[in-house]
Amino acid sequence: SLPDINMGKRQCWLPGRGLVLRLATLALTLLLCLQPWRSYYPSSGTQQEATDRKYPKQYQPQPAEGLSSKRQVTYIRASSNHQEDIHAERAVETGHSSCKALPADRLRRKPRRWRIHLQPWASLNRSLGDEASRFLRYISTTQISCRRLETNGLMGRSKSVKKPWTICLDDRFSLARQVRDQQCRLYSLGLGAQDNQFEVSMAEGGCDVHRFEPSIKLSHVQQGQHLWYHRLAIDWRDPNPSVSIRKVHSRIKTLGTILSEFGHWKIDVLKVDMESAEWKILENLILEETIEQIGQLVLEIHLHWPGFQVNGNDSSVVRYWYSLLKELECKDFRLFYIHTDLSKPQTFLRKKMLNASSCYTLSWVNGKWT
Ligand SMILES: *[C@@H]1O[C@H](CO)[C@@H](O)[C@H](O)[C@H]1NC(C)=O
Ligand SMILES: *[C@@H]1O[C@H](CO)[C@@H](O)[C@H](O)[C@H]1NC(C)=O
Ligand SMILES: *[C@@H]1O[C@H](CO)[C@@H](O)[C@H](O)[C@H]1NC(C)=O
Repeated sequence: SLPDINMGKRQCWLPGRGLVLRLATLALTLLLCLQPWRSYYPSSGTQQEATDRKYPKQYQPQPAEGLSSKRQVTYIRASSNHQEDIHAERAVETGHSSCKALPADRLRRKPRRWRIHLQPWASLNRSLGDEASRFLRYISTTQISCRRLETNGLMGRSKSVKKPWTICLDDRFSLARQVRDQQCRLYSLGLGAQDNQFEVSMAEGGCDVHRFEPSIKLSHVQQGQHLWYHRLAIDWRDPNPSVSIRKVHSRIKTLGTILSEFGHWKIDVLKVDMESAEWKILENLILEETIEQIGQLVLEIHLHWPGFQVNGNDSSVVRYWYSLLKELECKDFRLFYIHTDLSKPQTFLRKKMLNASSCYTLSWVNGKWT
């Protein structure tokens, strides 16, 4: 919670009675209102101290574990952790897990969030077994059936697919129409050029394909009429104002920034093949609401370790993964395709567990895009 800021606000609005009282209030007000700003401008001290002051504790990127006690904090709102915990406990008891609207949603101008909403624990004892079985159950159940699955692109020639990147061309979703009208756009986030069959096939089918890869030599390469490669890495920076002060390398951008720089307002298909960076990227898409600009999401997830910049004990990590997927569901994304990669080690957070694989390919359709 943000006691300083809130107290400051309340004090700012307090009307004074007499002149002395007014002056006293003004002085107190100035003191309290300026207090939060002091912490943004470190003047001396060690590196660590400087960082701590620049980013007040609650603004620092926190591991998944830290999320559990401060759910859904937006930067203008202080939340009552106690009440939320009660809510969470009750939710566990009743088995109810919801798409909880943030109180901030009621404000006219919606502030950007910088933490996802964590789901209640799977069970009161917070065991890894319970978290894992809830998560694995979730990723092995499709939520909508697709009558026209296309695996590995639009040209469908190659039977020797390495990974089944799968889209849905049902008429009820906009992608089929976009493909027919040659108006579709695919963004592909990757690390390494090995697997581009899907992209090539989509481009041959008439979709504009933009592949983002930090490792290519030139900054932009066009291959054929519809396929571009861009030397850009995808960032997952916190959407938190104090963090954005940091100087960011120009070749690292959030997807939202790329979209606005390219003048694109939507992506029909987003393919994410990011070798364990997918969790933080997904979090960024949700927090910055870029997710709403995506029609279908094809994502490879990795479960053999927590993933880049995901911290916390095993139970917290799995709860965090699950909460990310529930955020997608709350945004009307429906899982229509699941592939279990049996060629990868069958481990879950470095353990053999519940017959889980370390790698799954999942596809969702945005139900709002019909
Ligand atoms: C945790 O609770 C579940 C039921 O909610 C139970 O099946 C499981 O054995 C418990 N695990 C531990 C470690 O107590
Ligand atoms: C994991 O961390 C969370 C949050 O700190 C804690 O509540 C939970 O009891 C821990 N679970 C285990 C199994 O250690
Ligand atoms: C383990 O998972 C694989 C792939 O999902 C499945 O084919 C197999 O039948 C499962 N084995 C058991 C014992 O559940």
